[in-house]
Amino acid sequence: MSVLRLLGGSPLTGRVRIPGDKSISHRALMFNAFASGDATVSGILESEDVAATTRCLQQLGVEIADGHIRGGAGILSPPSQALYCGNSGTTMRLLLGLLAGQKLEATFTGDASLSRRPMARVTTPLKMLGATFSGPHDRAPLNLHGGRIVNCTITSTVASAQVKTAVMLAAIQGRGTLTYTEPALSRDHTERLLAAMGVAFDRTIDETGGHTITLTGPQTPKAVDVDVPGDISSAAFFLVAGSIVEGSDLTLEHVGVNPSRTGVIDVLRRMGADITLLNERDVGGEPVADIRVRSAVLGPTDINGELIPRLVDEIPVLAVAMAHARGESRVGDASELRVKESDRIGTTLGILKSMGVRTHEQPDGFSVWGMDSDDMNPPAVDAGLDHRIAMATLVAGLPLSGETEVVGADAINSSFPNFMDLVDQLRA
Ligand code: S3P
Repeated sequence: MSVLRLLGGSPLTGRVRIPGDKSISHRALMFNAFASGDATVSGILESEDVAATTRCLQQLGVEIADGHIRGGAGILSPPSQALYCGNSGTTMRLLLGLLAGQKLEATFTGDASLSRRPMARVTTPLKMLGATFSGPHDRAPLNLHGGRIVNCTITSTVASAQVKTAVMLAAIQGRGTLTYTEPALSRDHTERLLAAMGVAFDRTIDETGGHTITLTGPQTPKAVDVDVPGDISSAAFFLVAGSIVEGSDLTLEHVGVNPSRTGVIDVLRRMGADITLLNERDVGGEPVADIRVRSAVLGPTDINGELIPRLVDEIPVLAVAMAHARGESRVGDASELRVKESDRIGTTLGILKSMGVRTHEQPDGFSVWGMDSDDMNPPAVDAGLDHRIAMATLVAGLPLSGETEVVGADAINSSFPNFMDLVDQLRA
């Protein structure tokens, strides 16, 4: 296990380019792998999670090299070995949907963290569409038998883009009409990219915020080049760092600001953060901007309800901002955090507790009482296999003059391998 130590206390200034969006990188690879035609993906995230998707697609006979993909025109080859998805829930869940519609058998495996994560949320709707599983279908390893998909009506109790995408990828290979409803809008990169690839479907939002997709299969997407914007979930670490480290003034270039992902900006601004979007533009159907952040005095906030899917991955680092905001902040309706790369309610509070910050844990959230940074200890945690817990801990240590310690910091390679390089660059 690698141990990373960091001495905080210096402001972050300058401009950096945030690496490619993880969600869009997975989708650009998978959808083009299935599409008809060739495509080039630029700005793709080079990380272990995305490498897992590339390797799995290559095992399915897809030619991928240097961002160029030759689509299988709706047909993928049976893998001769298990598809190892590493730490990546997106790889496993999206590929389950894609392969559910293929006449093949595939075994899916993952690391210790991924093997603990719930899969029935994906496998149950896929079974409703006609896929079968030999052996258990609620945790990896999973043994999928793909085949004839017959579309139907599915209502999900969880607002999950991974589940929605898996179902849509199966449904485009099926006969008949899928009607899929999620209780609130989850990130919509799949809808945007499939639409750009010529796939037809309807979307509606009802009065309670429920989001419904209606899609008739079969349809084969057409390959499309993708320019992947920077990942707002990675930018979030610097949005918080720039806010809480006094004297900071930094600009993050070319960041995706899709409204289904920008909850972190809304919440930080509500807390008093000084964040400006510059040079807003559209890149291949996704909104993009440069983001400037300057340090500010933060106040407390509450996060719950439909906001949760718009910032679900940013809650660990938002909790670090809450620790610096005088007063009580609360997170609710966030039981999904329990089933991420770690139990992120427990692991996030672990960071704050190690700093001496007062917290209270609830089944679906927590409260944090912010305090003066002079009274905090530098954090010391074991990140387990959770990249975002490792990076949130390092951000928590940035304003403090003592030494922060993160055990298992190599987990960062899942999503943001050059994170520490960018921290060093901004502190130089
Ligand atoms: C993702 C969706 C989210 C997010 C994950 C990536 C995606 O998960 O937490 O990091 O790319 O679709 P859920 O869809 O399970 O909420």
